[in-house]
Amino acid sequence: MKIIVPATSANLGAGFDSIGIAVSLYLTVEVLEESSDWKIDHDLGENIPTDERNLLLTTLSAVLEDKNVALPAKYHLKMTSEVPLARGLGSSSSVIIAGIELANQLAKLNLTSDEKLKLACEIEGHPDNVAPALLGNLVIASTVAGKTSHIVADFPSCALLAFVPDYELKTVESRQVLPNELTYKEAVAASSIANVLTASLLTNNLEVAGQMMEADRFHESYRASLIPELQLLREIGHEFGAYGTYLSGAGPTVMLLVPDNKLTLLTEKIMEKNLTGHLYPLKIDNKGLQVEESVF
Ligand code: HSE
Repeated sequence: MKIIVPATSANLGAGFDSIGIAVSLYLTVEVLEESSDWKIDHDLGENIPTDERNLLLTTLSAVLEDKNVALPAKYHLKMTSEVPLARGLGSSSSVIIAGIELANQLAKLNLTSDEKLKLACEIEGHPDNVAPALLGNLVIASTVAGKTSHIVADFPSCALLAFVPDYELKTVESRQVLPNELTYKEAVAASSIANVLTASLLTNNLEVAGQMMEADRFHESYRASLIPELQLLREIGHEFGAYGTYLSGAGPTVMLLVPDNKLTLLTEKIMEKNLTGHLYPLKIDNKGLQVEESVF
């Protein structure tokens, strides 16, 4: 059996903690033979555990505990990931979704999508990465007081260009620079921008979506000093025709939404700057979680 989960890019500027897209980089978990202990072969570096301490298996355990079931066997697993770690592309969320599905398959839980999303939000705390990793495409979601509501929609047609810096930025570090509170006036302004962002995405208006994502007041301005590339890439975006540029998740990846016919030009203009990092042309993933050789 093979479980495949896309990477995700959250926030889209003003959709902080609420809006995310699934993108075309994938985590794959393969169930190999039964084994006396859990063992994960992976290519993610020596800091990532290969045993029960791995997020995949802590998630599996949390789900089994929640459902009050035990597995009769342990397995040898293989995990392969194209998703860069700690870069704002939802690497942990992809693992959480894979762990929930692993529990679902191995314990034959027959979980619905809504149940999987509820479990994922309980583990992750906010839905903006886990929801698109599970459901694909564009997801607008809200988790408040333990209740998650969500809408899945087609993302407007465009190219995505992700600049992934060579340095890591941990979400917890990137959240530490955020204010504890916003004034009422500021919250109303920030949420009005988010409302127009959402409406523009749902009506295929990328020009307005680009303006609204760049007008975010929830997080980007507080985080900008942690990601010096953001401002530069945004300026290149303005000069050479991107719809909009935003900080992907908690950063440091910077995402540009680009008209298809401007992708080559923008790629060249960014390459000319010799920034330290990698540029990925990406597409929207509209499938989300997939299972090959499912038990259901
Ligand atoms: N919305 C989250 C943030 C995404 O920006 O901190 C990372 O988990």
